[in-house]
Amino acid sequence: MEEEFIIKENALIAQDVYKMRLKGDTSRITMPGQFVNVRVEGMFLRRPISVCDFDPPFGSEEGRLTLIYKVVGKGTDRMSTMKVGEQVNILTGLGHGYDINAAGARPLLIGGGVGVPPLYGLARRLVRAGKIVDVILGFNTAADAFLINEFEGLNDLYEFGCEGFDGSKPEVRVHTATASGELGKKGFVTDCLGQIDECSHYYACGPIPMLKALKSAMGERFPKAAGELSLEERMGCGFGACVGCSIETASGYRKVCTDGPVFPESEVFV
Ligand code: FES
Repeated sequence: MEEEFIIKENALIAQDVYKMRLKGDTSRITMPGQFVNVRVEGMFLRRPISVCDFDPPFGSEEGRLTLIYKVVGKGTDRMSTMKVGEQVNILTGLGHGYDINAAGARPLLIGGGVGVPPLYGLARRLVRAGKIVDVILGFNTAADAFLINEFEGLNDLYEFGCEGFDGSKPEVRVHTATASGELGKKGFVTDCLGQIDECSHYYACGPIPMLKALKSAMGERFPKAAGELSLEERMGCGFGACVGCSIETASGYRKVCTDGPVFPESEVFV
């Protein structure tokens, strides 16, 4: 469903990476990990964008939508020049996101590069549910890194109090890896698994080679933990028209854009 949103912020936050905050009707976005498709100059972007964070428009509260996107072509380049106050048409609430109810006591979130944004909205909801959340963020260099402070800032939600806690003390523990070694551990997200002492369930999003390495490393480090992988990198058009996102799963061929982008790790062969 296409909705009109108004831009509240559109700022460069890392090398070629922008954060766009919007206001509009977010009622169709119900799960972190879902995605949207943005119309720029009358055309939809060639690839959809995962929702970073959202708030439903309850009562007098505004519907807030945050997108983080990388400039990779003409459409996103034009998007980066849009100004506060401009109107944008967006297809909202596409795909299926992460299952928050599967988290257990010690969820682990792992994101690589442009796969990091959807994990922020997920982490915020898990903190509100009183969980102790480990987050591993992986980037190539320090210039590519973003959202690290925002994830750490989720600890302040508890300090200042917010509704929905189940009584336990929530916490977010952020672990960072960069291939260049400039920030956190030198290496990849899998190199941070030694820093995690417990995992009940894991949620991941990132490039396919990262998901592949992660699935195998998680099988060794936490063999009992089930997980969910977002294959958003596999998507093309995002709304069922290009058939480029078909993948083989344990239950037959599925389309990432309509059946995913989030799948149980046991279902997919990455
Ligand atoms: Fe085009 Fe799925 S991404 S059909």
